[in-house]
Amino acid sequence: MHTIRTLRKMKEEGRKIVMITAYDYPSGRFLEQAGVDVILVGDSLGMVVLGYKDTLQVKVEDILHHTRAVRRGAADTFIIADMPYLSYHLNLEQTRLNAARLIVEGGANAVKLEGGKPTRLEAIRAITEIEIPVVAHLGLTPQSINSMGGYLVQGKSKADHDTILDQAKAIEQAGASLLVLEGIPEKLGDQITRELVIPTVGIGAGRLTDGQVLVYNDLLGMSENLPRFVRSYDDLKTRIPDKLTSFCRDVREGRFPGEENVYSPCLKQS
Ligand code: KIV
Repeated sequence: MHTIRTLRKMKEEGRKIVMITAYDYPSGRFLEQAGVDVILVGDSLGMVVLGYKDTLQVKVEDILHHTRAVRRGAADTFIIADMPYLSYHLNLEQTRLNAARLIVEGGANAVKLEGGKPTRLEAIRAITEIEIPVVAHLGLTPQSINSMGGYLVQGKSKADHDTILDQAKAIEQAGASLLVLEGIPEKLGDQITRELVIPTVGIGAGRLTDGQVLVYNDLLGMSENLPRFVRSYDDLKTRIPDKLTSFCRDVREGRFPGEENVYSPCLKQS
């Protein structure tokens, strides 16, 4: 299993870090079988699994429940658990407690939180102070959907570029171990990656970050209306309903169960 040290070594050696989200036992198992470096139990859970319109409804209990399931499927993979909205915004004691629960009760190896303003730096310091690795997340931060005014690419103007770059440096200074960069121009992803010692993992942040992360359901083609930064390797949103329709038809037309699906009586000789 990776550690924050081996992930940093990957950056030093120019080896790309592969991160994919997971939310349950089978996705954890498949990702471990596929050999991903890091699994993220993201709060995208709220949208792709629980059917909410954004990530803001997700609770610590939800992330805990799903992190435990992923851990059962992926015993030997480094797991990051996302800290949901309001779990690190109110005070540092609650922040530390929520982070510790994700590690102790959830079985995660690190926690992730969004943003780079001064209160977030305090949260990063508070969590790392109790020996928990923190992954930060900058650029398009979905928990800020209302204050950002939509899922918009960030860092396009010179001023925004400089703000995100400064926040990335401050996050590293505050003790974060890894930085997720979402929805920013490739040039900014590249500059942050070159100027930081900690690894960067991008999603819609171009080709030059130290690693890439995608949402499991998007990668497998289970989601509608995907942003351009996603590559889907299958079209399960079509193939799953097709298979289910076949099953319905077979039952209705008497083709399921077949002979191979039924138990024969065990006739005893008297
Ligand atoms: O919640 C999530 O899945 C994430 C990734 C998109 C990085 O934060």
